[in-house]
Amino acid sequence: MNRQSLIIDCDPGVDDAVALMLAFGAGEFELLAVTAVGGNVPVEKTARNARMLRQIAGREDVPVFAGAERPLRREPAGAGEFHGAEGLGDLAPFEPDAPCADGHAVDAIIDLVMARPERSVALAVMGPMTNLALALREAPELAARLGPVAVMGGARSEGGNITASAEFNIWADPEAAAEVLASGCEVVLFGLDATHQVRATEERIALLEAIGTAKAATAASMMRFSQRIEREIVGWPSLPEWGPPVHDPCPVAWLLKPALFELAPCHVRVETESELTRGHTAVEFREAVAGSLPHRWATAADADGVFALIAAAVGTTGTN
Ligand code: RIB
Ligand code: CA
Repeated sequence: MNRQSLIIDCDPGVDDAVALMLAFGAGEFELLAVTAVGGNVPVEKTARNARMLRQIAGREDVPVFAGAERPLRREPAGAGEFHGAEGLGDLAPFEPDAPCADGHAVDAIIDLVMARPERSVALAVMGPMTNLALALREAPELAARLGPVAVMGGARSEGGNITASAEFNIWADPEAAAEVLASGCEVVLFGLDATHQVRATEERIALLEAIGTAKAATAASMMRFSQRIEREIVGWPSLPEWGPPVHDPCPVAWLLKPALFELAPCHVRVETESELTRGHTAVEFREAVAGSLPHRWATAADADGVFALIAAAVGTTGTN
């Protein structure tokens, strides 16, 4: 099997945790590294959480690098209310056996990508884009070298989740998002328009709980936490088809099975000046207006297909 080389940049984070369980269990990836960024919780915790999840999944073969502590310009702003104070919901923190790899995440991204054939390394970004923006500042040639940059981020038709018009990852570091989108990277954005179609319904969570592996139990536990918290904070209805959106597995699922998503060519720009609409993603689909359509925006997702990939990946044991 010709495996896809992949770096995952994340801020675990309960849905990042599900994405990592998917990536750790899917045999189709050559996982080069997991890089942590400050976001949902501070980077000390996101890096520790990535190491915890790596140990649970039995994937200490994958190095974890700690990255940016704070956004390019803004003050750090977490989302602990949706992820728990430690970042992994009800999962009690423990000190993982294996430490972080030496070196900073930004340097790891540059070194790993530049050492491999052009366009051969994909990057899944599921937190604030600070690490990638810093890497592109240090090595602008990275943009032409990287393969697809699959980003969980952005808000358009669905509106925002941190403000009326912005999604958290982009809102947390809008300058980083703007720099990445202007860099020439091949960016594919999985915003709320797509991720709100991928929900952890009672039936889907129960299916994961029945699998019996540590990865499955961990993924299900994260979704149970989100189910409870979203009901408490957002007040979602007790309907069988309802469930909290599971955002971060979407870019990983697309890399595994692109047919699960519908993408539209577009040009995305980010609001960085207005406080009211900070982090809004202005998604322009009209080439005559934008001049070029260098990005892609996910407009639809096959939720059953995404959950089938998650169930298959977390049902594996050991390393792939
Ligand atoms: O808006 C959803 C995104 O913000 C997800 O990546 C979640 O983990 C939080 O970081
Ligand atoms: Ca995240």
